[in-house]
Amino acid sequence: MMRFELQARFALSDDISELSSQFESFIAAMNDSILKKDAEKFAFIERFSIEKTTLSLFIISEGTLRPHNTLLQIKNALSKELGKTHRIGVRDITITTYRIFFDLPLKPLKQISIPFADLIIHDTQATMLLSDVSEEFLRKNYIDRMMNRVKEKVESQYYEGKAEFWKLIWKSEEKPTVWDKDPTEEMERLGWLKQGPTKGKWFYRPEATVILKTMETIAIQEVLSPLGFQEVIESHIKPFDIWLKTGHMEGMPYEFYYVTEPRTRDAKDWERFIDLTKITKEVPVEELKKNLSVPTAGLCYAQCPMIYWSFKGKTIAEKSLPVLIYDKTAISARYESGGRHGIERVDEFHRIEPVYIGTREQLLRLRDELLKRYKHVFNDIFDLEWQMAWVTPWYLQQAGKIGDEGSQDTGTIDFEAYMPYRGTRKESEWLEFQNLSVLGDKYITAFNIKAQKSKLWSGCSGIGLQRWAAVFLAQKGLNPKQWPEGFKKYLENLPPGIRFL
Ligand code: SER
Ligand code: ZN
Repeated sequence: MMRFELQARFALSDDISELSSQFESFIAAMNDSILKKDAEKFAFIERFSIEKTTLSLFIISEGTLRPHNTLLQIKNALSKELGKTHRIGVRDITITTYRIFFDLPLKPLKQISIPFADLIIHDTQATMLLSDVSEEFLRKNYIDRMMNRVKEKVESQYYEGKAEFWKLIWKSEEKPTVWDKDPTEEMERLGWLKQGPTKGKWFYRPEATVILKTMETIAIQEVLSPLGFQEVIESHIKPFDIWLKTGHMEGMPYEFYYVTEPRTRDAKDWERFIDLTKITKEVPVEELKKNLSVPTAGLCYAQCPMIYWSFKGKTIAEKSLPVLIYDKTAISARYESGGRHGIERVDEFHRIEPVYIGTREQLLRLRDELLKRYKHVFNDIFDLEWQMAWVTPWYLQQAGKIGDEGSQDTGTIDFEAYMPYRGTRKESEWLEFQNLSVLGDKYITAFNIKAQKSKLWSGCSGIGLQRWAAVFLAQKGLNPKQWPEGFKKYLENLPPGIRFL
């Protein structure tokens, strides 16, 4: 059951106390026109009152027409009526109180709250009580979004902690492993890697660097170039409006590294900051805060959002389809907190992200070709023990949702590898070292991207260099002599590195 009870006040430019009787017929007319579209779609003004320059209406609805969506129309009709006959204008509308009763999909497991309203829930019946709502609030559609958000919060209580959707597609044979050490720890011991200087970051010395760079070369030469991908370079700093469009802003605000700009770049404004720094030889944090703007951007989280932004509002020529591009320059930052481990779960990682835009048929064909090439790399060059599975699409994962079987024209495939140092094949957690997605028209629509004739879809694939290296080294060890022949063609000897005393 849904029921809306809305008490609204219209502020008028003049006293209308004398017009009471005229309003009877005006209200009746409203109830028969604006408020009644058909048998199901209706609301009605149950009563009204007049007090000098204020007209109050009590509107209720149990139909699909929501009273808050009718107020602006009532305002227009009222302006017309009063303007014509009495030269009285309608200044503004406020909703003094708005009580909304609606059904929830499920009974909440924990208490729920929502901004801008008091929320009372009995079983699956919710009552949302708003007061002093402005015209702008109505115009911006907040009320419908609030109801949706309440329902969404209840639903998410049910999938919290539940296993994500996962369905095996393909699995390699078992491969003999050369060791069972954690490659990060060994690389640190050998001086190939140095932790820090801040949380979840690494300094890669020449030996580790050459391994990451080899991963990059292999991805480009064996996968991307043969399929015709072209390289682009995007900005590393992502303004919030891009993340608002992709959904990242609401999905993971707690995982971003935020970027602030100086409030001014006038040295005079920084004089006290500089004085304090010189005198105390420390960073005067309180003074710094005064000189910074509030963040309006964050460091790169994934590369595809800005690639989509670069196509915003564009019409792509048919002969450029499918668009095949990749960025390997922007470095991703994710605030990982408790989950950090070695080079495989870090706050800062290097990834190549190919993005593809084309027709459904083009993208499904491309997915097959990409899979063939990735398989070639992981089987013939790395000689890995790995598997592929359908998982919750990454944009749902990143919004904390668990997804379901759904259609598999669109969706995300995860590539997972056995990590001998973590334990047995059966009991240990395999590492997700890459993904590949076809995402339908989600981002095409969000960024209003068009083609001359074709309907467009898009997708992306994350090639994480640290993940590739972690998986390869965990299975094949750090001694180049033990590496598979295919990999030795790309990297046979490590650089001398630097010895310390
Ligand atoms: N955008 C995808 C992700 O975030 C691929 O990088 O996982
Ligand atoms: Zn992506």
